Amino acid sequence: MLEAITVKKQFGAKCALDDVSLNVQPGDIYCLLGANGAGKTTLINLFLNFIQPTAGRLLINKRDVAAEPFETKRLLAYIPEQVNLYPQLSGVENLAFFATLAIGEELPRERLLELLQAAGLPLQAADDRVGTYSKGMRQKVGIAIALAKNAKALLLDEPTSGLDPSAANEFSELLVNASRNGVAILTTTHDLFHAKQTGTRIGIMRRGKLVQELNSADVSHADLQALYLEHMKA
Ligand SMILES: Nc1ncnc2c1ncn2[C@@H]1O[C@H](COP(=O)(O)OP(=O)(O)O)[C@@H](O)[C@H]1O
Ligand SMILES: [Mg+2]
Repeated sequence: MLEAITVKKQFGAKCALDDVSLNVQPGDIYCLLGANGAGKTTLINLFLNFIQPTAGRLLINKRDVAAEPFETKRLLAYIPEQVNLYPQLSGVENLAFFATLAIGEELPRERLLELLQAAGLPLQAADDRVGTYSKGMRQKVGIAIALAKNAKALLLDEPTSGLDPSAANEFSELLVNASRNGVAILTTTHDLFHAKQTGTRIGIMRRGKLVQELNSADVSHADLQALYLEHMKA
């Protein structure tokens, strides 16, 4: 569903991605690990067509992101580290606004509340101004927008950073639910524990290269940590 084929991205003299290939299938939660500057965000931004590759191709559902920007955008939902919403509007008003933008039709309030609930937002918070929400709550509105869009692929950039452990855990469960519905998920994270716990596939990046890929079921927490540290040292 999400496919990077020998992707290279150069920022001037800086090579941010060097021949990266990966494939995220429907139902997969692919966790990208790697130190700051490894190229994780660059890869996410390429799938979003925010930036263009220097070489290589990015496909979503077999369609080229650069050649078919609108068609591929329609299949995607993106949750950045900071979900930007209108602080003066309530959760349900934000969802109404962004869902309309995404799907081109207005959803009835009952449907919006259903989506917020499916995204794990407590219903009594739906009419509170988003300015009063925690980061975890704003992300849930982000998830609800993705659900409204019925996205086939979900991109997340460090979604659990800054969440307390129970919010991070709850968030991970939402990802697992989405993946059970056949969504392909690509997420970056610094959290090895959640990568192992929630991910089906794990990729380790170092200085623009994908240096290892593994099935999370094949490693223990301790093995993953040892492997990760080994790669960072090398
Ligand atoms: N717009 C840009 N212009 C110049 N260099 C960039 C730009 N975006 C990212 N980089 C560089 O590319 C490398 C990878 O960055 P990034 O993808 O943000 O890493 P990560 O998300 O893994 O921390 C870094 O060295 C970063 O400084
Ligand atoms: Mg980043």
